[in-house]
Amino acid sequence: MLNQILETAAFIRTKTAQFEPEAGIILGTGLGDFADNIEVHCAIDYKEIPHFPVSTVEGHKGRLIFGTVSGRKVVAMQGRFHYYEGYTMQQVTFPVRVLKQLGIKYLFVSNASGGINTTFRTGDLMVITDHINLMPNPLVGPNIAELGPRFPDMHNCYDKALRAKATAIAEREGIKLQYGVYVGGTGPTFETQAEYLYFKAIGGDAAGMSTVPEVIVARHMSLPVFGVSVITNCGLSDEVGDHEDVQRQGKKAGVKMAKLFMEMLKEL
Ligand code: HPA
Repeated sequence: MLNQILETAAFIRTKTAQFEPEAGIILGTGLGDFADNIEVHCAIDYKEIPHFPVSTVEGHKGRLIFGTVSGRKVVAMQGRFHYYEGYTMQQVTFPVRVLKQLGIKYLFVSNASGGINTTFRTGDLMVITDHINLMPNPLVGPNIAELGPRFPDMHNCYDKALRAKATAIAEREGIKLQYGVYVGGTGPTFETQAEYLYFKAIGGDAAGMSTVPEVIVARHMSLPVFGVSVITNCGLSDEVGDHEDVQRQGKKAGVKMAKLFMEMLKEL
């Protein structure tokens, strides 16, 4: 895998010239519009990138965008890979390995998720304080020592200093934030009522089908992570989960998330 990561990074460098991104940003379902805030240097479709899987889900465009936001050089993934699409966990997390190789110093992740905490409302932004992994671990298999340790520590998985920065910015800018634990399941089914209750009982505040694998791999490589969930539905209410609704709510709340990300990038 290491060779593939290096080959892919080398290919991307031939397209981006001297552009060195400082932060990587993963845009979740319905959150791809954040890319409108990027002063684009260049964009590369996933399908052109060697060893990259190709995204299959509606609402995920599937390209890497290199450019500047708030004066900061970034690379954004417009569209991510999910385990439920049938990819291996190594494929799901491969882009994060490549972004690290390209020089990013921070990883910002976003997703759409179902609220389990009953004080959350649709459209809320939740800063991820921690996660519970209910998917296969992407680090199962031979460890690549050049990338990170066999037994990576998962304390401070979602960087405390970045979270404190988010709190200060949100207070200043009048953005309402929730905080909580993200539970990552495989999907593609939304949870049953019993499963939402189970997630709540084990300490979860929001349920989703992404993010955890990418964050584990980022932490394996000691990349500081900042994560935000957009609460697109409330699992323990009577409303029915629906992908179009998730996309619609993501788009609405995405404006707030964009503001938060842009201010944070300014202050890195
Ligand atoms: N469960 C899992 N994933 C999700 C949900 C949910 O309720 N909403 C958006 N993504």
